[in-house]
Amino acid sequence: MKFFAMIATSMVAMFFLMYLNSYQIIDHFWFSETRLFMTMIMGGAMIIIMLLYMLNMYKDKNKNIITLIFGVLLIGAAIGLVRSQVTVSDVDYMEGMIPHHSIAILTSDRSQIKDVRVRELADEIIEAQRREIMEMQWLIHDIRKNGIAATQEEKERRPVPEFEGSTGKETIETAGVPSEIKSDQKAGEVMYNPPKPEDAPDQIRDVVLLGHKIVTETKKNLPDYVGNELTCHNCHFEGGITQGGKNGSISYVGVAAKYPKYRDRQDFSVDLMTRVNNCLMRSLNGKPLPPESKEMTAILTYFHWISKGIPIYADIPWLGLKPLKSGHQPDNTKGKILFAENCARCHGDNGQGGMKQKNIKSESHGNGHDENGPPLWGSKSFTHGAGMARLENLASFVYYNMPRHEPDLTEEQAWDIAAYVTAQPRPEFEKDDKPW
Ligand code: HEC
Ligand code: HEC
Repeated sequence: MKFFAMIATSMVAMFFLMYLNSYQIIDHFWFSETRLFMTMIMGGAMIIIMLLYMLNMYKDKNKNIITLIFGVLLIGAAIGLVRSQVTVSDVDYMEGMIPHHSIAILTSDRSQIKDVRVRELADEIIEAQRREIMEMQWLIHDIRKNGIAATQEEKERRPVPEFEGSTGKETIETAGVPSEIKSDQKAGEVMYNPPKPEDAPDQIRDVVLLGHKIVTETKKNLPDYVGNELTCHNCHFEGGITQGGKNGSISYVGVAAKYPKYRDRQDFSVDLMTRVNNCLMRSLNGKPLPPESKEMTAILTYFHWISKGIPIYADIPWLGLKPLKSGHQPDNTKGKILFAENCARCHGDNGQGGMKQKNIKSESHGNGHDENGPPLWGSKSFTHGAGMARLENLASFVYYNMPRHEPDLTEEQAWDIAAYVTAQPRPEFEKDDKPW
């Protein structure tokens, strides 16, 4: 009897000891039937070998023969079970594979690999095993909860999420995140969800609010830097917190994640500060803000705050003006007539602006004040060097945003009007030789 107690204890001990070479002993300790069978085989072998060595201790011949037969049967049965895997269900199978994968990770990770190519291969193995372990853990959980998916339809209803393995060299946060989530961002599916300026944390709140004030009432806050009658808000509506498109003008949401950015105007990368000064000098016919000024810092802090949560260099679908279909030959004369019909009531017959208009759709604009159409040309408007002075930019801006609150022009009409407006006199921009 004592003999069997000894064998049983050794078997239990061996069963657990077998897991010691798994990578994460606790996480990857899944009950493995295969390992149980292997333990049985070893137990059987131990029975036979130990008994034969200790024959002089156990004198009862019959008992010894029965014990030996039991040992042989145990080995036979376990071999049968382990090779046929008849008792191994889906979940059992995966539970057995997890420790197995885990060993592969351990050896691939800790072996003294010096060859760069072997290292790469080992890293690939680690990544694949990690991914498969995550997949198996997910599947075990799903099968325990919902049963197995036996049919193709069932499979489609309960698809396995795509997991990404890692070599353990990435950050903990990204490892094990289903790649669906990550690839969304890669594909540019960024969410439009800008925080409100007033929700900024205490330390930057005042600065963010100052930045917001500057871009909505530019001249009032930067009297020495603005040279015309425009504000940033005239082209970047709602302080730039918009999703672009119809009535959305030119958004600022996410610009902090977009710069520094290549621009053909400079044929180099420009940072956000330079970009802001570009609009200040060209669109507002003004002077550049000094980099260290509070006002510049405030504008940039505001841009950063409303870009919160957007990954650096993500594709941001709402930024920039969307190009219109080209191919239409813009007609200046038609544009003049269309301007008188559609624009003059707010922007004046001579594009000088200042025509007060009752804001009919006050709820959509949110302030209900009378709105001045700002100047479109002449000394109080943007310069020849402004982005808005480019025919294709003006056409797109007008098509999507004008008449204010109810843009209803066709693309052709927008091209014609833009041709007319860009042909009018406006301040020169002489700071460099490029017209824009
Ligand atoms: C109902 C009044 C109204 C009508 C009509 C209107 N606009 Fe505007 N427009 C505005 C207002 C107001 C702004 C400034 C928006 C803001 O600050 O929120 C503006 C801004 C602009 C701007 C950018 C700022 C600037 O001065 O350069 C352009 C360009 C423009 N409008 C062109 C046009 C054209 C072209 C038409 C005719 C198709 C037109 N608008 C019709 C009210 C109007
Ligand atoms: C007369 C119209 C106008 C005014 C006024 C104006 N901008 Fe712009 N702004 C533009 C145009 C046009 C673009 C280029 C849009 C594009 O690239 O599709 C632009 C682009 C920008 C960009 C880059 C956006 C991006 O997606 O890369 C920033 C930042 C910016 N402006 C800031 C300002 C600031 C700050 C002010 C006020 C100091 C201002 N703008 C005033 C017309 C204007």
